[in-house]
Amino acid sequence: MPTTLAADVTAWYARAARDLPWRAPDAGPWAVLVSEVMLQQTPVRRVLPAYQAWLRRWPTPAALAADEPGDAVRAWGKLGYPRRALRLHACARAIVAEHGGTVPRELDELLALPGVGSYTARAVAAFAFGLRHPVVDTNVRRVVARAVHGRGEAGPPATARDLAEVTALLPADTGEAVRFSVAVMELGALVCTARGPRCGECPLIARCAWNRAGRPEYSGPRVRP
Ligand code: ADE
Repeated sequence: MPTTLAADVTAWYARAARDLPWRAPDAGPWAVLVSEVMLQQTPVRRVLPAYQAWLRRWPTPAALAADEPGDAVRAWGKLGYPRRALRLHACARAIVAEHGGTVPRELDELLALPGVGSYTARAVAAFAFGLRHPVVDTNVRRVVARAVHGRGEAGPPATARDLAEVTALLPADTGEAVRFSVAVMELGALVCTARGPRCGECPLIARCAWNRAGRPEYSGPRVRP
């Protein structure tokens, strides 16, 4: 029986994914939110120690909300783009003021939090609350551009179209949909990378439109066999 693109990606994820603390089943929505804000502009290896220290110091939104914005900025340390620390602090205060200290689960409530955009809201709803929402970041957009459209790079972000394209790939089963969302991000991070993709290790090689087209529009380093 032919498999789906999503099934191929989740099967690969089950054997190849990194074991990262924010993916633990008991990570909780606050930890997921903190990790997603940190991971937006900083690589995983630099996020790991900062994430652990942050959650030790501020294990809940209420703990962070009780401290001053300057404390958050100092603790952000070398992660870069320190405005994210201020946004996370404002977010913690809004979670306390408007949601009794509990991270909300609905997309519209998440989007209404300061500094929470479409990506972060969907990542928290899907990864922390197990809801069936498409989650679209740069990695996901690149995998779709290549595997589905045969283009070497994703075009500029087009939120509505990007969401529709990923929704079309999302399995009907909610748990499978959540697994697919994290799996396709991981595929973009580890295999279908912007530069030097490891096509020889890709679970989508047989169905990849970009591979079939001879990998056009790609100017990066050699594609690994
Ligand atoms: N797992 C869930 N979200 C992630 C992200 N943004 N980067 C890496 N791993 C993740």
